Amino acid sequence: MKLSQRILGIKPSATFAVDAKAKELLNQGKDVISFGAGEPDFISPPAAFEYAETAMKKGKTHYTPTPGIIELRQEICNYYQNRFDLKYTPDQVIVGCGAKPCIYEALAGIIDPGDEVIVLAPTWVSYIEQIQLLEGKVVVVETQNNDFIPALEDIEAAITDKTVAILLNSPSNPTGVMLPEDTIKGIGQIIIKNNLWLIWDEIYERLVYGQAKHVNAVQVVPELMSRTMIINGFSKAYAMTGWRIGYVIAPKELASKINALQSHLTSNPTSIAQWAAVGVLRHSNDDAIKMKDIFSQRRDLICGLLRDMPHITFPEPDGAFYVFVNVQQCIGKQYEGKVIEDDLSFCSILLEAELVAVVPGSAFLAPGYLRVSYASSTEVIEEGMKRLKRFLQKIV
Ligand SMILES: Cc1ncc(COP(=O)(O)O)c(C=O)c1O
Repeated sequence: MKLSQRILGIKPSATFAVDAKAKELLNQGKDVISFGAGEPDFISPPAAFEYAETAMKKGKTHYTPTPGIIELRQEICNYYQNRFDLKYTPDQVIVGCGAKPCIYEALAGIIDPGDEVIVLAPTWVSYIEQIQLLEGKVVVVETQNNDFIPALEDIEAAITDKTVAILLNSPSNPTGVMLPEDTIKGIGQIIIKNNLWLIWDEIYERLVYGQAKHVNAVQVVPELMSRTMIINGFSKAYAMTGWRIGYVIAPKELASKINALQSHLTSNPTSIAQWAAVGVLRHSNDDAIKMKDIFSQRRDLICGLLRDMPHITFPEPDGAFYVFVNVQQCIGKQYEGKVIEDDLSFCSILLEAELVAVVPGSAFLAPGYLRVSYASSTEVIEEGMKRLKRFLQKIV
């Protein structure tokens, strides 16, 4: 029987695939170490459990308003006011089942078939699939040769009369690199000049280390407010991946259209999880800071260990919890007689030989790289890096 072209064209998420493979090997009793998942290993903050439990006991287990309970949308507005000095109203906030579907809904709000969306490579896996599902065209601007910061002239050169939006993610998954304020300003001006939308995914905004400071694009260029959809969520900052709560903040008219779309898809995100999110916004700022501080120590640890390894280079990540490792020097060389043809074969030979799982850069439109997530304990990082070093030392 027939399957649609749409569904046949979808590639499964590479990050989930790597993690699933690692879990399968673990279930077979193998001592696998996975640096595949983009998922904090901490327990969600206590307030999430307290609020969820109270919500259950009070019978708050029914449909909620489509865009989310007013208490949560108001807390999100308060958060943006306090953190970025940006004024939004609850009718501009749509809470969804994670940031991922919110990005899809945001894209659906602006893409007609054939419309072009500019993304920066390396790019997060799901942007590409989502744009294509909507029959949009992905236009890629490469950043590899420029320390992963886009050159403004490359962005301008990518714009055509079909361009509807630029999608930016800072701090970045997969590189951990953050866009400098000047670059944000420059891109903001290009967006305004060409009458485009900005989709601003700042889901890692709380995970920023050392001297680096996250800035919101609308805070930097206030004129962007009427043409920006902000994407954020609870998965990364509050270790709440499984609760599936994220949100999009949009100009009112577009927000009401996204609301209509969501009313036909999920109706609303889970009521109890929404209350958990209210709980963390009210009470878990310190928990989020503690988790960030631990990520910061892990970043220093993993970068120190990686610096000591042959054949590789990487940009020092300022945010998120990934290191994007350049393994181009290994391509064409051999590991115990096996030729490393590309990043994909690097990953599969590494997994086979040392039981270490990492995600190939090709999944992020950056062949020749690996994404290593350091959302794991110190012991796991130390053991995994010991194995990776041993692997690299045997490459000839
Ligand atoms: C850049 C980026 N945006 C959005 C998401 C979606 O997060 P969630 O759907 O868990 O809220 C992720 C998750 O990996 C991500 O890395």
